[in-house]
Amino acid sequence: MKIVAYSSKPYDKQALCRTLEADWQPLYIEVPLDLNTVAYAQGAPVVSAFVNDRLDAEVLQILAKGGTQLIALRCAGFNNVDLAAAQKLGIKVVRVPAYSPYAVAEHTIALMLGLNRKLYRAYNRVREGNFSLNGMLGFDMYGKTVGIIGAGRIGQLVGKMLKAFGCRVLIYDPYTCEACNELGIEQVELEEIWQACDIISLHCPLTPETTHLINAETIAKMKKGVMLINTGRGALMDASALIEGLKNKQIGYLGMDVYENEGALFFEDHSCEIIQDDQFERLLTFHNVLITGHQAYFTQEALSHIAETTAQNIHAFIAGKTLENEVKAE
Ligand code: NAI
Repeated sequence: MKIVAYSSKPYDKQALCRTLEADWQPLYIEVPLDLNTVAYAQGAPVVSAFVNDRLDAEVLQILAKGGTQLIALRCAGFNNVDLAAAQKLGIKVVRVPAYSPYAVAEHTIALMLGLNRKLYRAYNRVREGNFSLNGMLGFDMYGKTVGIIGAGRIGQLVGKMLKAFGCRVLIYDPYTCEACNELGIEQVELEEIWQACDIISLHCPLTPETTHLINAETIAKMKKGVMLINTGRGALMDASALIEGLKNKQIGYLGMDVYENEGALFFEDHSCEIIQDDQFERLLTFHNVLITGHQAYFTQEALSHIAETTAQNIHAFIAGKTLENEVKAE
């Protein structure tokens, strides 16, 4: 059976080889799935894809015509898939719901601490023989109020870690979080998150409701000098509002692992090119902005879990079993 795995970098291939190749010989395509690359999937019943692969109605239609019946996402988020179109075309979509919430939660904390203690600046300064502490002043995490949006696997873990620092942790989720009470995390409304928090961290999925959740209006409600962290999805934040907030110092720190238009940039080496995204380039000019290229998930453990669950998902599909990790249009 032909399986095509898009956006499969050498590290993905290494992990997938261990789980898939006992049964199949997948075709690994390093570039993302889009209108230019969809032809590789002709005749493949199973297509495996990642976060920035394009799975809109147009691409799905071509896939369906070529015989694709299953999209096996190697990620948790599925905001890049037109689920309604897939359903109409008879294509099933499966994902890896949890591969390592620890990886993302730990990276979130790394961004907070890196920004607070300016580790990225210290690294360069010390290497240049500059041991001045001017501009390096941080703050104690102990006693700060941190707001988490999304009380799922990652959000809860981030909360637990922050409790260990001695932070007061507030969390917002449309659903009641029983586990949060046990962890001493207070479930509050969004308004309280905006107004009370020194640090706000995003861990909700990207939906029409959460798109640009961080915008000019919500930023204006926050404490002056707030730290914003986004390891969720880029479009949870409006980049132009972030730039304005950084310029007028309403935002004191910004840590991002994801960016709304990351598809044109992330996971590739653009170091010898002129980057055309002016918003992204403007964000990079601020000394209090720390950006990583969607690497929060990127640990050995997470890659192994992704490969294992992807293989299980494909096996279940071929065996005609219930697809435990299927995602459907609401
Ligand atoms: P999860 O499904 O366990 O939790 C998501 C939580 O968000 C749920 O409790 C849900 O009720 C809540 N939620 C839904 N709508 C909401 C809204 N409007 N406002 C606030 N909360 C809302 O997901 P998990 O595993 O914790 O992942 C969270 C997000 O992290 C994913 O959706 C994905 O976008 C992102 N992610 C990023 C990675 C990275 O490498 N940067 C890797 C893995 C996930």
